[in-house]
Amino acid sequence: MLTDIHCHILDGIDDGAKDLQESLEMARIALQHGTHRIVATPHFFEGCITPRDLLQEKVELLQQELDRQEIAVKISTGHEVRLESAAFIQDHLQKESFFYLNAADSFVLLEQRWDRYCPDTEEVLDWFLKRGTTPIIPHPERHFFFRDDPELLSRLIAQGAWTQVSVDSLLGTNGAEAQAFGRQLIERNEVHTLASDAHNIVRKPNLSEGIRLVGEWAGPARVQEITERSHRVVE
Ligand SMILES: [Fe+2]
Repeated sequence: MLTDIHCHILDGIDDGAKDLQESLEMARIALQHGTHRIVATPHFFEGCITPRDLLQEKVELLQQELDRQEIAVKISTGHEVRLESAAFIQDHLQKESFFYLNAADSFVLLEQRWDRYCPDTEEVLDWFLKRGTTPIIPHPERHFFFRDDPELLSRLIAQGAWTQVSVDSLLGTNGAEAQAFGRQLIERNEVHTLASDAHNIVRKPNLSEGIRLVGEWAGPARVQEITERSHRVVE
């Protein structure tokens, strides 16, 4: 049984599922991969901010349909919050405008921008950690600044952040560099969680394929650690 903590399964919000049918199809694919729990994590950045109540409604609607069709997948609310700047995060922390990965607010998916490393990262990590929230950095293997300077990522981990590597990176779909760095992170034991970051039925929720590779590269004990951490995130 697997938990996917990063998935764009909700329709009509961002560049994820295009309609409810696709959301349902993604859930069916997830189930074939042994995934029973999915945190819906739409993008949250300047210009793409979906109100929490709309997201909550979308999750309830999808869950109703999953239950009606007897697809044994449980969906919950989350966000993929982009670290635009300290001011951006502070503003939305105060307004409580984004979802954490669980109701206890103990984990948040906190992604970097694509064009440059956010210089406020350590300060923002500190805010979250002091509030009892562990920030999870999604797909570090896809960011050039972490690939160029792996020690930068190691320092954030030492500070208390977790990482989430994406299955598609391990499969090579995100390019050779992301694949090589993703594998390196697994070998260095710097991967806390694995997730699909699925967006549709092509870029799909294929979690078990990544879990299989972790088993090949790091052994069954590591597989257990990684899968159990994702369960803990949604508890
Ligand atoms: Fe994502």
